[in-house]
Amino acid sequence: MSNAQADAPMTASTRGTPSAQGRSAAAERVQAPAWVRNAKLIEWVASIAELTKPERIHWCDGSQAEYDRLCQQMVDAGTLRRLNPAKRPNSYLAWSDPSDVARVEDRTFICSATREDAGSTNNWVEPKQMRETLRGLFDGCMRGRTMYVVPFSMGPLGSHIAHLGVELTDSPYVAVSMRTMTRMGRAVYDVLGENGEFVPCVHSVGKPLAAGEADVPWPCNDTKYIVHYPETREIWSFGSGYGGNALLGKKCLALRIASNMGRQDVQRGGPGWLAEHMLILGVTSPEGRKYHVAAAFPSACGKTNFAMLIPPAGFDGWKVTTIGDDIAWIKPHADGRLYAINPEAGFFGVAPGTSAKTNPNCLATLRENTIFTNVALTDDGDVWWEGLSEPPAHLVDWQGRDWTPADGKAGRKAAHPNSRFTVPAAQCPSIDEAWDSVDGVPIDAFIFGGRRSTTVPLVTQARDWVEGVYMAATMGSETTAAAAGQQGVVRRDPFAMLPFCGYNMADYFNHWLRLGQQLQADGAKLPQIFCVNWFRTDENGKFVWPGFGENMRVLKWMLDRVDNRAGGVEHVFGTSPRYEDVNWEGLSFGSDAYAKITSIDRDAWQREFALHDELFAQLADRLPQRLREVRARLEARLAA
Ligand code: GTP
Ligand code: SPV
Ligand code: MN
Repeated sequence: MSNAQADAPMTASTRGTPSAQGRSAAAERVQAPAWVRNAKLIEWVASIAELTKPERIHWCDGSQAEYDRLCQQMVDAGTLRRLNPAKRPNSYLAWSDPSDVARVEDRTFICSATREDAGSTNNWVEPKQMRETLRGLFDGCMRGRTMYVVPFSMGPLGSHIAHLGVELTDSPYVAVSMRTMTRMGRAVYDVLGENGEFVPCVHSVGKPLAAGEADVPWPCNDTKYIVHYPETREIWSFGSGYGGNALLGKKCLALRIASNMGRQDVQRGGPGWLAEHMLILGVTSPEGRKYHVAAAFPSACGKTNFAMLIPPAGFDGWKVTTIGDDIAWIKPHADGRLYAINPEAGFFGVAPGTSAKTNPNCLATLRENTIFTNVALTDDGDVWWEGLSEPPAHLVDWQGRDWTPADGKAGRKAAHPNSRFTVPAAQCPSIDEAWDSVDGVPIDAFIFGGRRSTTVPLVTQARDWVEGVYMAATMGSETTAAAAGQQGVVRRDPFAMLPFCGYNMADYFNHWLRLGQQLQADGAKLPQIFCVNWFRTDENGKFVWPGFGENMRVLKWMLDRVDNRAGGVEHVFGTSPRYEDVNWEGLSFGSDAYAKITSIDRDAWQREFALHDELFAQLADRLPQRLREVRARLEARLAA
């Protein structure tokens, strides 16, 4: 597709021009290519163009040539810097505006018909009122810019499990990132056909350009809105170009809208399904038994790292493979089990802390075709971030300033703590052969993990599904740089879904309980539920548990429990391994250290229960009675 063909100028002469070859007036107006045959889509593009008034429209075809051309255009505009091709082929570095570096949870809204349906953990504004606000903001917001039409599929193209979306965006950075993160391009229109359904996603950085006004490298707006209408399945995002705020297939569609779809499926007589903030991995034992686990950790708490784990010494013959690193869609299968797919096609992962030691698979994935955002630039045109290696003598930091190790010692970070990479999943050396399969993989275990420097032990197995749901529902975690706001404060993050559940959290708990009950009634073997914490610290504030590859030792215990092969000790919350139940071959980690990360402090847990109660009070209106019963049971056990 040549530039001239794909870019339709929005001029007075093309607007409203009547049809020449029997195409609709709207199709003429927005110069829809012949391969776009969906009338509803074309009408919608025309209406958004009318509102936002871009200078031109570009219909993305998803080709490599288009990607390369847009990247070059961004290099010319100063948005991207081409990295040294000898060190990092076909890769770029972007530095965002310092005010636009993470998800903005306080600007994220679930605009369901009623406040109760959004629930007390979500921001809510009456939909009509929000539409008025957005109409005002989007009016003319793309002036002087190109509007990119970005068609994408979450899940394998054409699969019964996938959902299509189309994002209209005035950010070329978003357009190219969506090509990496989703199945994006012309083939989506073939699946969409004339009458297919798609989730409409409107995105603007919110910085129109007046005639002759020079652009800035990272346009954005201090006013930000990330808005979802769950009943009509629409997404509107204004003011940010970064990550989950702007790549609307990810958190907005694949979690907030999809979690609604999974629940609405029940209301429509289906079995219901789950859209979760979970990695998916496969584990193959030396005997060839293959397990699959899905694990939820809050943002920047270890999903990507766990998904790419390499078994350490002492695990000869064990293999871990990666299916997804951030999002799982999980559905009951014909055989009665839960199967999971990764709806994404790329990784948008945290850079800091990623090294050849902590995550070699990830580092190998990043060898080429990667867009880095907000990491530091080395003098030889490569990238660097905290934790990658010994700091080089000189760098340019993520804000374009000179940086030396002395600055690091003074506490100035070279890379932003939420700096990230965007890279195709298929490039990952540990990618699972089934990662692209339309059926997904059968889940043996769910793992929930928070970042807790105290209180929560290394690993606990729930006694049953309901206790597992309670554990996940009441999980706390220290906040991270993935979201704007204060860092390191413990908050409840139920199922690691606090920022991503698109409806009332109490209804969501109920959805999980109902699904488990139904599968059980059908005679299925439910996945076991575990809770982990890699992050307990010692008196000097250092992590006690080595983490990363060594997490395999805990994973292996969990899989042994799935097959009823491992010992453990039952306590208040469930079952945990004794020291001797874990394989320590190849690691020197004594029973004293083990005690530090597995001990249960009764006073700390009394305080923890008070926090559970606070959450339950917040969700009281619709909180499932079964969770209250678990709460009462656990407290009685703790008192005993
Ligand atoms: P999102 O992409 O925000 O959803 O994050 P994520 O859950 O995929 O987190 P990721 O794996 O990228 O890890 C985030 C940070 O936690 C990185 O700095 C890691 O180095 C660190 N981390 C991950 N796993 C471990 C672990 O086992 N132990 C310790 N101490 N740190 C870890
Ligand atoms: C997260 O914050 O959980 C992420 C990054 O995975 S973002 O896509 O920005 O939400
Ligand atoms: Mn995430």
